Amino acid sequence: MKQKSGFSGQIGFVLAAAGSAVGVGNLWRFPYLAAKDGGGLFLIIYLVLVLTVGFTLLTTDIAIGRKTGKSAIYAYESMRKKWKFLGVITFIVPVIIMTYYAVIGGWILKYIAIYILGSGKEAVADNCFTNFITSPSSVWYGIIFMLLTAIIVYNGVEKGIERVSKFIMPVLLVMVVGIAIFSLTLKTTLDDGTVRTGLQGLKVYLTPDMSGITVQKFLQVSLDAMSQLFFSLSVSMGIMITYGSYMRKEDNIESSVRQIEVFDTLVAFLSGLIIVPAVFVFSGGDENALNAGPSLMFITLPNVFKEMLGGQIVGAVFFLLVVLAAMTSSISLMETVVSIVEERFHWKRIPSCLIVTGISFLIGLLSVFGYSIWSDFTIFHMQFLDFFDYISNNIMMPIVALMTCVLVGFVVKTTFVEDEIEKNARFRVKGLYRVMIKFICPICMLLILFSALFLKL
Ligand code: PFF
Repeated sequence: MKQKSGFSGQIGFVLAAAGSAVGVGNLWRFPYLAAKDGGGLFLIIYLVLVLTVGFTLLTTDIAIGRKTGKSAIYAYESMRKKWKFLGVITFIVPVIIMTYYAVIGGWILKYIAIYILGSGKEAVADNCFTNFITSPSSVWYGIIFMLLTAIIVYNGVEKGIERVSKFIMPVLLVMVVGIAIFSLTLKTTLDDGTVRTGLQGLKVYLTPDMSGITVQKFLQVSLDAMSQLFFSLSVSMGIMITYGSYMRKEDNIESSVRQIEVFDTLVAFLSGLIIVPAVFVFSGGDENALNAGPSLMFITLPNVFKEMLGGQIVGAVFFLLVVLAAMTSSISLMETVVSIVEERFHWKRIPSCLIVTGISFLIGLLSVFGYSIWSDFTIFHMQFLDFFDYISNNIMMPIVALMTCVLVGFVVKTTFVEDEIEKNARFRVKGLYRVMIKFICPICMLLILFSALFLKL
């Protein structure tokens, strides 16, 4: 198969794929889940899952992409004609995620503006976040974020995505390490004289909390870790298939997967080192301060920064870091969709980028205005953005992963992937891979689907 233009080498590929993987999921969802799910207990379960389920799904996606040389829709079709439908579902996932991811990217841009152009005080004013997202004018920030993404994607795989990732990812790592160290040195004395330190917060983060553990709780923690893993590694949504199709044949898939996993998990772990100790020190012991989703990032953290010496600078650096992480994820989403449009319609890059940006913008309006002028419309009691998040992550991604496991495990057989990996190196964990893809991963996906359909709705 003739290779398309693509990444210049393994480092470029790994950094771009890690750029897709490292995003707001690492920075706000991972620390929250770790704090909620028993600290070290969650960390251990997550690590085991990364090395098993995550490794299997990521390897499979990349190998499918590189072997077929195609983006998702056509990759599945070329594996088995009748399985084209799986490519179509896979195509829809990044379309949905891209539209709301840009909205969240816009929120982050707004906070950067608050910290860099103002003193950061506005961020802690009453209802700052709510007022912002309920105002229709917030749409402008989303538009800027989307246009920045489109410009990078327009410049192509090597000159756009690879070049930006090679710059952003090392910078991001340095910033995360820097703020994590700062967070560990924090200290405050509460009104009753109790001293709280970042190192105490570190203990909360790392110590496995086994109190009151039951089989049910253990299962719940595992499910949380599994769905986080999915979203975090950007698997089963066509992205890693597309990036795999740009990978050089002479590069090593197995070692690339390990490097991507290490990068992704390290940033998630370090993000916990930033957030858990900082919130622990300044929340006055309120465990609910480590709440889920946007409010942790846009309400709790600004309040923490307000209490710190140099909080305005830390806030600015922090939100800059988040936007860089979100940008490399967003370009992977847009690239996946653009590459499919290019392949399907044989269009050039400019019209493909324009049409994808335009359509994403229109769909994205649902997520933006779902909080303001269209807030009366809800689906299953969810705002548009929450619904898109729910349907893509909890329903479509597990379905895609499950079907991919069946396709590779039982239809085309695991040799389809193994042969591609062994093109230039021995596949060291072939035995584990076979068991995982045929049996363990499908069971995990069924569990996620079951819990999403019957426990969350
Ligand atoms: N992996 C990214 C994160 O953890 O935030 C999010 C993401 C990027 C999800 C790209 C999906 C995706 F297609």
